[in-house]
Amino acid sequence: MSAVLSEKSADVAAAPVQAQSIAMVLLGTGVVGGAFLKMLNTPAAAHLRLVGAANSRRQQTEPEALARRGLREELRQSGQPRDDAALLAALDASDAAHKVVIDASASAELCQRHPQWLAAGYHVVTANKALSGGSLAGWRALESALNSGARYGGSATVGAGLPVISSLKRLKRCGDALLTLEGVFSGSLSWLFNQYDGSQPFSALLQRARELGFTEPDPRSDLSGDDVARKLLTLARHAGFHLAEDEVVVESLVPEALRELSTADFLNRAQALDAPMAALLAEARERGGVLRYLARLNQRGHARVGLVTVPGDHPAARLSGTDNQFALTTTRYHDTPLVIQGPGAGPEVTAQALLGDVLELAGV
Ligand SMILES: NC(=O)c1ccc[n+]([C@@H]2O[C@H](COP(=O)([O-])OP(=O)(O)OC[C@H]3O[C@@H](n4cnc5c(N)ncnc54)[C@H](OP(=O)(O)O)[C@@H]3O)[C@@H](O)[C@H]2O)c1
Repeated sequence: MSAVLSEKSADVAAAPVQAQSIAMVLLGTGVVGGAFLKMLNTPAAAHLRLVGAANSRRQQTEPEALARRGLREELRQSGQPRDDAALLAALDASDAAHKVVIDASASAELCQRHPQWLAAGYHVVTANKALSGGSLAGWRALESALNSGARYGGSATVGAGLPVISSLKRLKRCGDALLTLEGVFSGSLSWLFNQYDGSQPFSALLQRARELGFTEPDPRSDLSGDDVARKLLTLARHAGFHLAEDEVVVESLVPEALRELSTADFLNRAQALDAPMAALLAEARERGGVLRYLARLNQRGHARVGLVTVPGDHPAARLSGTDNQFALTTTRYHDTPLVIQGPGAGPEVTAQALLGDVLELAGV
């Protein structure tokens, strides 16, 4: 293991705050960004001032428009064309002590700009994990940009704000080291395998999960394991394992024949998942276990995400709903792991993770 983000720069804790001394621009006014905007009307956000907001095509920096409750809807119809420079200028024009860019998008392109914003002295708080869970070069760019003294808050990138990244940082600060990490990092895959008992075909369950909004519109985004791999990379890197993307072995649950189809065609042919999944379930039962889609990192830095059979007394066997679980074995949590478990998705808890990081970097 080697040290990653320096404690001073990676840690969002800092100096005391003065009223209205935090100015922010919000990039992304979708499900999470919308929940964040609602949270700005609560007393917890009294110190925060929104000076800009944007979706992928339009943005707004006019104080009156930003204060309107219909901002998110209005941005769909009107506003200035998208331009980062104008948003950063709005931050610069504020007299705030802390200037924060909040990324509530899923844009891989946008997150490549996090290092340059940090290097320019803006703090970045993000729900977008495409940088921390992307290429190793991107992660290294992030680390070196933190030399500017700006801070990076990524609590919302894993477990929708469950205290996983913060716990890893705290353990490291105390001289503890992560030995192994294991868990269920996807709400949709958690739900699917917590429910799957053979009483209905796997494809029917998948359809239900989609209707309930637990999966992406194209469920292959969940079933591919790529999102889980990005979360495992993010956590491993925070713990000091400098892993490259191709060092995570990813078992996709999408058969090759279904990978290139349109979403509609995939959904029509999802029954192709049923027989192989039923066979895996029968095999797991014969061994007295259950199926779980687990992310695993071992002491040598070997990382894998995929479907495994776990015994009935395994912590992941006792999960319910869409809960996430993170089991951390460290030099001091050695005999039994430190287990962090709870809702790992949802707009409100994710928006709260963004808010918490913003407040923490300003020492509120
Ligand atoms: N939903 C959850 O429960 C949850 C939980 C944990 C983490 N997350 C993460 O949170 C992020 C947002 O998720 P979401 O569910 O809110 O997604 P979403 O509803 O699809 O919203 C994404 C937003 O980002 C905007 N956007 C895209 N590119 C942009 C750009 N270049 N500049 C400014 N805005 C841009 C989109 O604009 P348009 O409307 O114009 O397309 C949209 O407003 C994702 O990274 C996701 O993985 C979500």
